[in-house]
Amino acid sequence: MAIMIDGKAVSAATREQIKREAAEMTVKPGLAVIIVGDDPASHVYVRNKKRGCEEVGFNSWVYELPESTTQDELLTLIDSLNVKDDVHGILVQLPLPRHIDESVVTERIVPEKDVDAFHSVNAGRIFKGEASLLPCTPAGIMELLRYYNIEVAGKRCVVIGRSNIVGKPMAMLLLGANGTVTICHSRTRELAQVTREADILVSAVGKAKFVTSDMVKDGAVVIDVGMNRNEDGKLCGDVDFVSAEPKCSYITPVPGGVGPMTITMLLRNTLTAARNIIKN
Ligand code: GUN
Repeated sequence: MAIMIDGKAVSAATREQIKREAAEMTVKPGLAVIIVGDDPASHVYVRNKKRGCEEVGFNSWVYELPESTTQDELLTLIDSLNVKDDVHGILVQLPLPRHIDESVVTERIVPEKDVDAFHSVNAGRIFKGEASLLPCTPAGIMELLRYYNIEVAGKRCVVIGRSNIVGKPMAMLLLGANGTVTICHSRTRELAQVTREADILVSAVGKAKFVTSDMVKDGAVVIDVGMNRNEDGKLCGDVDFVSAEPKCSYITPVPGGVGPMTITMLLRNTLTAARNIIKN
């Protein structure tokens, strides 16, 4: 039987800590969230981000822009938030409508307020091991490992998925913690052979039942970043949980594992950004 990594509990404890730290500051941390268009899932995420801010005592502003917003209009809004003193974090909810270039938008946020850590400057800092703002999902996973005293140093870590948001920064953070890291992707040969080497296996693929029990080493720590729907429309991860769980020492369930940590790490980044900005 694996130990279930309780993302909800770690998230709640971390939010309490963030709330205490924020209460001691002379300035309230503030997060501005921009959403363009009316994708229902994105609106749910944004509402949860706003609620998270309220929970820990931050200021928050949500800018809901119509689908017809031009790229220039969006950039003008970002420019105004970049220079606003009470805004310490800026987040543009993705995906954006097709007529807007995500890369141009994410590069426009000043790196000091880039609480997603998507800007090239922040990506570069992660690469150099000098980051202050960390990508939320990988940072949440590192927090879970720390909370459960799961040592990374010297361990074989395998990350499946090479996205800029999860896979690549995840690999960098594990490397920064002295793990021996392999990144696998759609062109990886003998995938199961590679993943069976993993003491810590992180899956960020986006396919239900992608990680089967034969891909998991006995005693492995399995971290499931997947947010998929199964045949019954229920939320599930990448890991075939029923068959893989008995082989694991620790495993994150979906829902209730990695997911709850992501917004909490956004709040942590907003606090960090506020501290950095106030100091300067
Ligand atoms: N859409 C889905 N996940 C994310 C995220 O982490 N940040 C932003 N900005 N948009 C998202």
